[in-house]
Amino acid sequence: MALVPGKQILEEAKKSGYGVGAYNVNNMEQIQAIMAAAKETKSPVIIQASRGALKYSNFTYLGYLMKAAVIENPEIPVAMHLDHGNSLESVIKAIDLGFSSVMIDGSLMEDGKTASTYEYNVKVTRSVVEYSHARGVSVEAEIGTLGGIEDGVGSGKIHLTDPQEAKKFVDETGVDSLAIAIGTSHGAYKFKGAANLAFDVLKEIRSLISIPIVLHGASSVPKELIEEVNKYGGKMPGATGVPMESLQEAITLGVSKINVDTDGRLAITAAIRKVFTETPEKFDPRDYLGPARMALTNLIISKMKAFKTAGHAGDYTPKTLDDMKKGYALK
Ligand code: G3H
Ligand code: 13P
Ligand code: ZN
Repeated sequence: MALVPGKQILEEAKKSGYGVGAYNVNNMEQIQAIMAAAKETKSPVIIQASRGALKYSNFTYLGYLMKAAVIENPEIPVAMHLDHGNSLESVIKAIDLGFSSVMIDGSLMEDGKTASTYEYNVKVTRSVVEYSHARGVSVEAEIGTLGGIEDGVGSGKIHLTDPQEAKKFVDETGVDSLAIAIGTSHGAYKFKGAANLAFDVLKEIRSLISIPIVLHGASSVPKELIEEVNKYGGKMPGATGVPMESLQEAITLGVSKINVDTDGRLAITAAIRKVFTETPEKFDPRDYLGPARMALTNLIISKMKAFKTAGHAGDYTPKTLDDMKKGYALK
């Protein structure tokens, strides 16, 4: 079994200069697709579930499916990660399900929409760090706010991370990784004009903090997928994402974790729409979920290659949560 602490996966990536995709999951097919891609490319991987995804699956269902991914793939380092936890309670639920990594997004209030104060963010993050580290679980936090609202994730307004505040925040909270805002946003409509990321802000943050940096809202929204969705009856005019070259640049400048949800949704939707359009007589879910799973596998294989995660699965001996617990206790 290779359930790995998020901290170890990211520190290894930072050390060797590659990025690790953190792919959102809601169901069995997504989990299988991600693991098939990780196996094919020999990549470490982070599978992450949002609060909404856990609620949709009644918590335990998704938790057990994610555990199955770990058990079925002993040669792949896998972190089970909570995406956008909004309170200590949400984190406790994920840790009870066996997650090795959690995010507390204190950049927003518990409603997931209203921007919080710096003091609130520090307070809630510290409570999560204390609880999680006592159990060997890694913690990601966020400073600055991303745009885009998805099921209560994102304030709708972009507020770039202040590098000095980021440093103070890391020192005051003891988090293991930090999500920053440099112009990305959640969802399929990221930029009105040309994609523009604040690499100067990223560089300054990298020079001030030593923990791994996380980029949310990092889907590329590939033109071909949007065309495919629209060709088979979808309606997504003007959808845009972060170009792969910008993500590769961000990795070079020090980003270690790259969050991807939207692109997976697009690949699945395009594949299902195609089956429904071309073979309207089909009604067995396996006839459309199977192709969707295959489309997602191929998409993630290409991301694992582009982020240079490929080939790194066997680089290190996975630590256990007990090892981590001891390490945190010594600090
Ligand atoms: O960052 C948000 C992820 O895309 C999860 O979205 O809350 O709709 O599951 P969700
Ligand atoms: P995308 O919407 O760009 O895929 O971002 C996902 C994300 O940040 C999950 O936390
Ligand atoms: Zn996010």
